[in-house]
Amino acid sequence: LKRFPLIDVQGVPLMSTIAANWKSISEFSPDPSDLLIATYPKAGTTWTQEIVDLLLHNGDAEMCKRAPTTVRIPFLEIVSPPPIPSGLDLLKQMKPPRVIKTHLPIQLVPKGFWENKCKVIYVARNAKDNAVSYFHFDRMNLTQPEPGPWDGYVDKFMKGQLGWGSWYDHVKGYWKERKERNILYIFYEDMKENPHKEIERIMRYMDLSVPDDVIERIVQLTSFNVMKDNPMANYSYMPKPVFDQSISVFMRKGEVGDWVNHFTPAQSQVFDEDYAKQMKDVNIPFRFSI
Ligand code: A3P
Repeated sequence: LKRFPLIDVQGVPLMSTIAANWKSISEFSPDPSDLLIATYPKAGTTWTQEIVDLLLHNGDAEMCKRAPTTVRIPFLEIVSPPPIPSGLDLLKQMKPPRVIKTHLPIQLVPKGFWENKCKVIYVARNAKDNAVSYFHFDRMNLTQPEPGPWDGYVDKFMKGQLGWGSWYDHVKGYWKERKERNILYIFYEDMKENPHKEIERIMRYMDLSVPDDVIERIVQLTSFNVMKDNPMANYSYMPKPVFDQSISVFMRKGEVGDWVNHFTPAQSQVFDEDYAKQMKDVNIPFRFSI
């Protein structure tokens, strides 16, 4: 298996397989009942999808065990090596209402999602933990470009040279449009601190009404330790040539503040100075610890 190179699509570096299929991806036409979960890679996509899936099935634990996460909730743009089906192929076989995942920045999300006023949940994670998580993911996901050493990786993160582009543009793009486009914008750190409260927010946004004890069950079922052992959520079903979890496991740590174990004080300072510049036009309440 070859790691796919990144190709520029409208100014955003995307894996070559996505670039090659860009026309059909961008023309995907959702149903108004479809719900989109949008994230920068490693911000808490899988966690959020399990919450959404359980909310839709009233906390029935069997529902989150019935199929791999990528089959239950396809990734719109991801084209995996065969025999793993691509997101678009899976979506064609499913009837709305569907839950769909994407890492695309807001300007690349197919127009149909906005025209049809689909519900969109955006999950954001603080830049430093997000970079650390992405680094370990790029080591073990053998279809993504080689991460190289950590020091250079931080530099690429700051310059937006990783798959799906700049974290800064990504979180800002959805933030600026959240009110106008009725996007639910949630934070990984808030989910860690008070999962019950964030699950309730998601429930209300989805126009669902789930009893309190079921919410509490969903909190348990989507805790890091339970999801880590759920073979349908921990990506253990992914064939080894794609994810080599002997290098780094998908459910790696699931913590806020792990960045302190990776950034040297000097790297952290450079990062903070650059962060202040790149984020000066917005005031998104990111937390680097809880
Ligand atoms: P770490 O690498 O920091 O452990 P995504 O699903 O967007 O790819 O994000 C994966 C990250 O979310 C990983 O972060 C993973 O461990 C973490 N994660 C997954 N499920 C989680 C959960 N239930 N609680 C906390 N973190 C979780």
